[in-house]
Amino acid sequence: MEDLSGRAAVVTGGASGIGFALAERFAAEGMGVVIADVEAAALREAGRKLRATGADVLEVTTEVSDPGQVASLADQAESHFGAVHVVCNNAGVAGNTAGPLWGVPLEDWRWTLGVNLWGVINGVRTFVPRLVAQGEGHVVNTASMAGLITGGGGPYGVSKHAVVSLSENLFFDLQLFAPGVGVSVLCPGWVNTRIADAERNRPPELVVSRTDPMAQKVRKGLGRVLEAGMAPGEVAERVLGAIHENRFYVLPHDDEAWLAPVRNRMTDILEARQPTRTPVPGSDLLMAAAAEPD
Ligand SMILES: NC(=O)c1ccc[n+]([C@@H]2O[C@H](COP(=O)([O-])OP(=O)(O)OC[C@H]3O[C@@H](n4cnc5c(N)ncnc54)[C@H](O)[C@@H]3O)[C@@H](O)[C@H]2O)c1
Repeated sequence: MEDLSGRAAVVTGGASGIGFALAERFAAEGMGVVIADVEAAALREAGRKLRATGADVLEVTTEVSDPGQVASLADQAESHFGAVHVVCNNAGVAGNTAGPLWGVPLEDWRWTLGVNLWGVINGVRTFVPRLVAQGEGHVVNTASMAGLITGGGGPYGVSKHAVVSLSENLFFDLQLFAPGVGVSVLCPGWVNTRIADAERNRPPELVVSRTDPMAQKVRKGLGRVLEAGMAPGEVAERVLGAIHENRFYVLPHDDEAWLAPVRNRMTDILEARQPTRTPVPGSDLLMAAAAEPD
């Protein structure tokens, strides 16, 4: 989409990190923004900051894993702005990633897939028919480099591979049925956000009763890696460019250190080799954190 000024964007997970940076960037472009988030106090504060820049902002407290709440988000966005042209299905959480896959508690599967995958499914099912009906618009689904490489951390990697696949399918369907509507899949490496502290938003019914000391160490390590990550604003800039140019894959971390693991996975598949794990930048810090004494 070329002309975004005067149009409206919806951003889920808009109270923090990449989502907030997207909202800021869209507002600077002259767009109205709807920020949706499950964390009500942070959402109000984010709305206040955006409004202080002169932006037209609507905050809607939303649990993205709940289709009814996402439908209500779309209705509220439309009644405030008339129409929505950009939808960023961005809300996400990083759950418990320590230990072998077979020991991952059901609560972690439900929480991580509920937000990271069902959040995107609900966003697509709710907003895309409206974009198709109006004949133009753009959807941005936030996946991760973890959706393109081997490993990627239990349910988190599973959810992000699924978001990449869903987005690729959406791309083909839109080309066929609604070529005026574009889609991008955002696959960042480390970004300096609060995702290591995602537990703050875990619903009480999905809290895991036993505390896993290894998971806590990994989370601490993740926090250190993220602090050295890309600024969210830089990611938002890349997303804006992708919307303007109707580009599908958005890989803000496009240096060889991040691309090699993707390339190696593809080669493993094409040559029918065993999967290999190519370390991504920051793996050393994560390993060091995991090896720290209790
Ligand atoms: N930070 C990174 O290094 C990184 C890398 C790759 C992909 N991502 C992805 O970027 C997206 C944004 O995460 P971030 O890094 O900005 O983290 P963040 O924690 O700073 O922001 C995530 C936002 O999502 C909200 N949220 C969480 N659960 C929700 C729910 N159920 N319903 C609605 N909102 C909910 C949170 O309250 C928060 O405001 C996620 O999908 C994440 O997986 C992040």
